[in-house]
Amino acid sequence: MATDNGKVEPVPHAIYPGSFDPPTLGHLDIIHRAAAVFPKLTVAVVINPAKREPMFTIEERKAMIQECVRTLPHVDVADFRGLLADFVRALDADVIIKGLRVVSDFEVEMSTALMNRSLSDVDTMFLMSDQHYSFVSSSLVKEVFFLGGDVSAYVPDVVLRFMQEKRAKLRSK
Ligand code: PNS
Repeated sequence: MATDNGKVEPVPHAIYPGSFDPPTLGHLDIIHRAAAVFPKLTVAVVINPAKREPMFTIEERKAMIQECVRTLPHVDVADFRGLLADFVRALDADVIIKGLRVVSDFEVEMSTALMNRSLSDVDTMFLMSDQHYSFVSSSLVKEVFFLGGDVSAYVPDVVLRFMQEKRAKLRSK
C-alpha cells in the first residue's frame, strides 16, 4: 500500500482458518465481514490427519471456497498442516480471524487465541456471525443432509451441488 510519502507499507493480512468440511453460509458470512475490513484475507483450510474421515478432500474444500469468493479478488484460499501459529508466521500475516456464533464458542476460542498469540505473537480477532447462522455448523449440516433434510438454507449453492454429487457417489459404491 503506497503512503503519501511514497513509502510502500505492507497491507494488513488476515487469516481465517478452519476445517470447512463443508463451508457453510455461516463461514461465508464471516469471510465477507473480514473481507470488508482487511485488504488481504487468506482462507486457510486445515489438513488434519487426526480428524475423523472428512466428507470432502482438501482440494474439494478449497474448490468450493474458491468458487464462493470468486468476486473478492483480495481473498485467496490456502491449506496448511501443523500449527496455525507456524502458518501465520510463515505468511507473515497480521491477524487470525475467528467467527463466534454463541457464548460457548468464546469459551473454547479464548484459550486457543491466547495460545496462538503466545506461540506467534499474532492476535485473534472475533467477528460475530449473523444471527441467522448462529446454529449452523458443518457437522450439523452434514447430519441433516445425510438424514434427508433440506440444507439449502445453510450452504452456498455450489456446496449443495458438491454435497449431492458426493452422496450420489457414496450411494453408487
Ligand atoms: O473449523 P474448525 O474445525 O473449528 O477449525 C479449527 C482450526 C483449524 C482453526 C484449528 O483446529 C487449528 O487451528 N488447527 C491447527 C492446529 C493448531 O494450531 N493447534 C493448536 C491451536 S492453539
